[in-house]
Amino acid sequence: MKKEMKAAKYEEFGGPEKVKVGKMKIPELKEGEVLVRIKSAGVNPVDGVVLNGTYKDMMPHKLPVIPGWDMSGVIEERGHAARRFEVGDEVYAYARRPEVKWGTFAEYVVLPESCLASKPGSISFEEAAAIPLAGLTAYQALYEAGGLKEGQTVLILGASGGVGSYAIQLAKARNAKVIGVASEKNHEYMKSLGADHTIDYHDRDVGEATKEKYSDGVDLIFDCTSGKTMKQSLKALKAGGKMVSILTQKGDIEQDINFEFVFVEPNPTQLDHISKLVKDDQLKVNISKKYHLDEIGEALKQIKTLHTTGKIVLVM
Ligand SMILES: NC(=O)c1ccc[n+]([C@@H]2O[C@H](COP(=O)([O-])OP(=O)(O)OC[C@H]3O[C@@H](n4cnc5c(N)ncnc54)[C@H](OP(=O)(O)O)[C@@H]3O)[C@@H](O)[C@H]2O)c1
Repeated sequence: MKKEMKAAKYEEFGGPEKVKVGKMKIPELKEGEVLVRIKSAGVNPVDGVVLNGTYKDMMPHKLPVIPGWDMSGVIEERGHAARRFEVGDEVYAYARRPEVKWGTFAEYVVLPESCLASKPGSISFEEAAAIPLAGLTAYQALYEAGGLKEGQTVLILGASGGVGSYAIQLAKARNAKVIGVASEKNHEYMKSLGADHTIDYHDRDVGEATKEKYSDGVDLIFDCTSGKTMKQSLKALKAGGKMVSILTQKGDIEQDINFEFVFVEPNPTQLDHISKLVKDDQLKVNISKKYHLDEIGEALKQIKTLHTTGKIVLVM
């Protein structure tokens, strides 16, 4: 087995400038684990949040850390008893582990085979790497926490970004009506994904603009932005409706509403369902920019803006 790999890593918490590309040892394969040769890794806002130390008291960290939680690649070796995949199989995963240490911005990662799903054959490694974290977030927020049903109406705050782009498409796959909120420049993009209506949060009160379209309000609000946009949206929540947020906590909301916070969990069974939607042409991946692993600093600066359209990925 190869002993060393090229990887992005940081020795202390801080901004993108703390991340350097260098050599790291490849961890040994243990029972039930596989070695994956990473082809591409999705970049997510959480990578910058973990890097700046926000989660250091919530999850164990072991420095130096290789950042990155999304990946697609090829099985290169199997540990004892790992039999779900063959060497050479193409896989993808949301590869968040209990300890923050071995991420996916590297040439290789060792993972329990139970984290992995088969990569959809119809899309590239880059497209596959852009799915897991953001796609599962949208899936768990809309389908699990939100219980979205056919014919319901959902207001998606931050609908042109990584999570929002999948949320629009997953809501349309359930035959829901979708209102997407983002800047004017992203309105055609959101419509191309299936949004029935779009609202620009810069020049309108999002709640009032939604009520002009649906006077009774919406069944579900999916909050990917928090702050003023989230607060404005509350007046458009139907009686008996629900807000699901991936940023706001229940304590931040004064009104007594049906509310749930979601922190995305790895789930290969749900990834298999997402793969089927990809195969059936119900879910497309939109990559606005690809960066080489050596350009990790630029990629982290872009994702930190919280104004990325679709997804950005690293190519190894
Ligand atoms: N809890 C979890 O499990 C979880 C999982 C994934 C992500 N997240 C968090 O959720 C957020 C979204 O993630 P992402 O990957 O989709 O980010 P992203 O790709 O950067 O997308 C951000 C989106 O928010 C929009 N936006 C920015 N400011 C806004 C505002 N004031 N009002 C309305 N929309 C606004 C952007 O549109 P414009 O560019 O047009 O402004 C864009 O559509 C991030 O903060 C991320 O850390 C949490």
